[in-house]
Amino acid sequence: MLDSWWTIVSLWWLMIVSLWIIVIIWWLIRGSLVISQDLTTKLIIQEKKFRGTEKMIEADASTRTLSVDIGGSGVKVMILDSSGNPLSERLRVDTPQPPLPEAILNAIAQLALSAGEFERVSVGFPGVVRNGVTETAVNLHPDWIGFDLARELLQQLQKPVRVINDADMQGLGTIAGIGVELVITLGTGFGSALFVDGKLVPNLEMGHHRFRKGETYEQQLGRFTLEKIGEQKWNQRLEKAVLSLHSLFNYDFLYIGGGEAKLINIELPANVKIVSNLNGLLGGINLWSLTT
Ligand code: BGC
Repeated sequence: MLDSWWTIVSLWWLMIVSLWIIVIIWWLIRGSLVISQDLTTKLIIQEKKFRGTEKMIEADASTRTLSVDIGGSGVKVMILDSSGNPLSERLRVDTPQPPLPEAILNAIAQLALSAGEFERVSVGFPGVVRNGVTETAVNLHPDWIGFDLARELLQQLQKPVRVINDADMQGLGTIAGIGVELVITLGTGFGSALFVDGKLVPNLEMGHHRFRKGETYEQQLGRFTLEKIGEQKWNQRLEKAVLSLHSLFNYDFLYIGGGEAKLINIELPANVKIVSNLNGLLGGINLWSLTT
């Protein structure tokens, strides 16, 4: 009789202790979930706040911008004053291999540390960019597809960030704002940007369009092809590309930038200009007055 009484009491205690253990574990798990949720909410609010204060930041004449140009072979940064004048040297590192998002973010963070103080960040990215998210990255890595670069950089640098296609950014640092202006960039890839009276038509991807002999502009004129066919043949192809682009866009001006533009040795029509590759960074200022 006593034995069964003790068994009932022990079982009863065991049940109570187990229930307490379950409650404590549940409480601990819930606590950590709430903390991580809180952090994420805080960052999202911060991000929205940053996006909401862009105009305020732009209005301040002392604002410094870290301008970043992500390329297939190099990542470059420079600090600009509010009028777009360089406040630092142009710093460059080779694009990390493989060019994964995390590796490139770290490279930018390292460069940012050496560049100096800044209050906001502009990024030119070699692919289609929508709302800070990178949608294509032919010359980088498939992990960039759907990557929220603006948000990740905001979290890393704790500064407001705007991201745009690299050729679009080059255009923002180049155009006069009158008529139809086309910009192409010759580097690892073939970049293109179109402006109508200063208004950007974003993410024009001429590079992946058919040009000649069943190949795209990028396949015919990209850096890998240039290395294969040599400058002479590359220049002849470029001459054909200029004609072909003119018959398609009937542009008022065509600007040619990018790292390989220095190799151009053909005679260009009067409305076609070679522009400095630095414009890819200088465009980081106009990015903040861009209305989308
Ligand atoms: C990309 C473009 C980019 C260009 C130059 C191309 O492969 O698709 O978005 O502007 O390379 O980097």
